[in-house]
Amino acid sequence: MERLVIIGASGHGKVIADIAKKNGYDEIFFLDDNDELTICGKYPVVGKVDDFSKYDCKFIIAIGNNAVREKIQTKLENSNKKIAILIHPNATIADDVEIGKGTVVMAGAVINSAVKIGKGCIVNTCSSVDHECIIGDYCHISVGAHLAGIVHLGDRVFVGAGVATAQCIVVCSDVIIGVGAAVVRDIEEKGTYVGVPAKRLK
Ligand SMILES: CC(C)(COP(=O)(O)OP(=O)(O)OC[C@H]1O[C@@H](n2cnc3c(N)ncnc32)[C@H](O)[C@@H]1OP(=O)(O)O)[C@@H](O)C(=O)NCCC(=O)NCCS
Repeated sequence: MERLVIIGASGHGKVIADIAKKNGYDEIFFLDDNDELTICGKYPVVGKVDDFSKYDCKFIIAIGNNAVREKIQTKLENSNKKIAILIHPNATIADDVEIGKGTVVMAGAVINSAVKIGKGCIVNTCSSVDHECIIGDYCHISVGAHLAGIVHLGDRVFVGAGVATAQCIVVCSDVIIGVGAAVVRDIEEKGTYVGVPAKRLK
């Protein structure tokens, strides 16, 4: 019997529960601060986020906001909790890829050779991360986003749905890249960037 506590009973949480089931977890339940939630998909919501200390099993955080995910994962780490890595069986990942704890990789994602992905990241459905990319901690590569080879992302970078980057791009920490943007130059200043080519939103 392998138990997993998922923090965050959202739609994203439902996707993560499905991956967890496919990864062999057979006792799954949620924690969420919304009192009205009692169930998430097929699984019960059994308490609030701060109840995590009552459980001695693996955890994963299903919260899309990068900073919130970081805050909760840091709390779990400081309490010496075990944190899972979840990879959908239909993701394609090269043998030499390194993935940090708390990271989830969704269906159809492709991660190519010599990539390093930090902790607490989301590599979402049908996104791709090509050869030798280095992804910092608590980043989110949204659905259908594509990073070309040798792209470096700092920490807490949000890459919106359908974004494309050129190869060898460097993006600093705490950047948001809007849905559909094309990143063709390095991003050196934190902020929100949109459009083709991506420009800073004033
Ligand atoms: C970039 C983003 C974060 C901006 O959100 P916001 O700060 O609330 O900005 P607003 O919606 O107020 O838009 C501000 C302006 O930017 C424009 N804009 C917003 N997002 C844009 C985008 N992705 N591409 C081009 N223009 C965009 C708006 O049209 C608006 O222009 P206007 O002032 O001329 O009307 C958001 O639009 C976005 O793209 N989020 C990503 C969502 C996503 O990919 N989710 C995936 C989950 S898996």
